[in-house]
Amino acid sequence: MRYGPHLLEEILRRTDIVQLVGRRVKLVRKGQAFWGCCPFHGEKSASFKVENARRTYKCFGCGKGGDAFRWLMEIEGVTFPEAVERLAGEAGVELPKWSPEDEAREEKKKSLYEVIEAAALFFEAQLHEPVGREARDYLKTRGLDAATVKKFRLGYAPAAGAALIGHLTGLNITMDDIIAAGLARPADGERGPRDFFFNRLMFPIGDGRGRIVAFGGRGLSADAKPKYINTAETEFFSKGHQLYNLASARPAGIKAQSIIVAEGYMDVIALVRAGFEASVAPLGTALTEDQLQLLWRVAPEPILSFDGDAAGNKAAIRAAHLALPHLKPGYSLRFAFLPSGEDPDSLIRTGGQLAMKAVLDAALPLGAVLWKSETEDKDFSTPERRAGLEQILATHVAKIGDAKIADYYRRDFDARVFEAFKKRSASPRGPRAPWQPGGKKGARGGFHKTPPLEPVSDALKASLLVKAARKALPKTSSADGSAAPEPNPGALKVKEIEVFRHLIGFPELIERHTELMAALPISDPFLDRLRGELLNVAASGSRLENQGLETHLILRGMADTLQRLKAHGSEIGEGTASGEDADARFLRAAHDLRALAETGPERKRASERFKQEPNEESCLEHLRLLRDRSAE
Ligand code: UTP
Ligand code: MN
Repeated sequence: MRYGPHLLEEILRRTDIVQLVGRRVKLVRKGQAFWGCCPFHGEKSASFKVENARRTYKCFGCGKGGDAFRWLMEIEGVTFPEAVERLAGEAGVELPKWSPEDEAREEKKKSLYEVIEAAALFFEAQLHEPVGREARDYLKTRGLDAATVKKFRLGYAPAAGAALIGHLTGLNITMDDIIAAGLARPADGERGPRDFFFNRLMFPIGDGRGRIVAFGGRGLSADAKPKYINTAETEFFSKGHQLYNLASARPAGIKAQSIIVAEGYMDVIALVRAGFEASVAPLGTALTEDQLQLLWRVAPEPILSFDGDAAGNKAAIRAAHLALPHLKPGYSLRFAFLPSGEDPDSLIRTGGQLAMKAVLDAALPLGAVLWKSETEDKDFSTPERRAGLEQILATHVAKIGDAKIADYYRRDFDARVFEAFKKRSASPRGPRAPWQPGGKKGARGGFHKTPPLEPVSDALKASLLVKAARKALPKTSSADGSAAPEPNPGALKVKEIEVFRHLIGFPELIERHTELMAALPISDPFLDRLRGELLNVAASGSRLENQGLETHLILRGMADTLQRLKAHGSEIGEGTASGEDADARFLRAAHDLRALAETGPERKRASERFKQEPNEESCLEHLRLLRDRSAE
């Protein structure tokens, strides 16, 4: 195409499509839209709609529709470039002049795409050659399987200094083109031209249409410097204007009306594998305004994910400030904070898809992020400091481009300030501890270090993105992504699960029956690990209610195990039990489990006793007997 998308959009933005169509069709206003009789097919009642908000026309009778360019092409039979020129003229948008040199450059660009594609194929093939062995081993350590390698077209740039150059020149591609495509460094001094990437794992970067335009290359060793290198800026690759995986994330994101922004290639790949298909990453730089606009074309509230450490927090605030001038009605950002030191790749590896989902569900709106950053861990015990806070908040509001939104932010901040200071002045105590908005700090520490532990919002729970992810969740898989061994079949498995369902449902049971829990014969390795963790929790003396306990377990990498327990609810047929009920049910389940696992005369006797007098003591005795026996 001759004209870039920005230019075309600019023309459309400046074209009043109602007025344009109105020259040919009599239109009547109804609400936001205008209606008339369709000029493309004979009709008596108006089923032809034109909207300035959408900048489109559409006939509900014959189905014809499109933007202003299409209108001119359809109604006047002009070509696309002619339509562009006409409307640009009317809208006062200056078009770049097209010279024969421009045409030649365009041709050249086309052929450079082919050069890059040839390089991508070469890297892909090298990964499977003997030279690619180290890279293949590395992929294994990162848990990436063949299907993922294929899907993301991962490859390997060999260590030899000019392997790619040799391959491409063998295909009759000129050195100039190889350099122009960003694939080689030109000769300097004594040295001949060299491959830009060597001994690196290669991530091809696609443009908005999915054509490969650049590469990111990761060093294979932990101390490779730099860890990643990207193709330098070329005519068709500009870091700040593109997003990794956008072409494939876009349809999924539009469908789900949601898109996730991670920091790196590995994160995007991990997210997609976990079922979050609409995931992208900037290319080694902080998010730019252009990238923000790209994201907003997919979904109204992209979720940016950040490491929960101080650096991640800083990056979040930077993104928030970047967005302020560009906010428009309905369009904003959300901020998801991972546990400190984690990125989506590592969190998904240890915590599974559910842990990531928990983090996304707890994403904060933009206003909350600004508020937190200005108030967290700060002392507002003097009038001057409070006034200072209000002043700073006002400068943030002043950055907002949209007047209506600015107004709402002003009110939101006012309400927060009012709420926070009201609490303080209501407190009658003498010398006060430094006031902190948001009330007392929990035991979990400050904002910077805390993974978001707020309960899942209903809206997000119901979001299509999450639903899609849930569907993609494998029923049983271990935290590290490898296939889980099938738990023991039949009644034993169900009983084990039942025991743990009681424990998770009524965490107070964990404290009450620690010893019994420790003695239970658990055959399923994942449930065994869960037991270990529950015992740890009990030993630490922390009092966790259900939500807190679940979050703790998810962050400890047991999301999939939890999911399994929940999936078995109906099979076990538990009703809603009261606390007392739970105790009896748990004891019975624990006993049954033992009975199922072992047989013998001692068990029978102990079992009889337990049946007559079902309490912890009789149950434990039973267990002890059996343990001693099996130790012999
Ligand atoms: P990080 O360095 O934070 O990622 O870079 P990481 O999680 O430790 O890396 P992995 O998971 O071990 O591979 C995140 C992103 O920043 C860019 C890359 O896009 C990378 O994916 N980056 C990082 C660079 O461009 N250059 C670098 O030297 C480092
Ligand atoms: Mn990582």
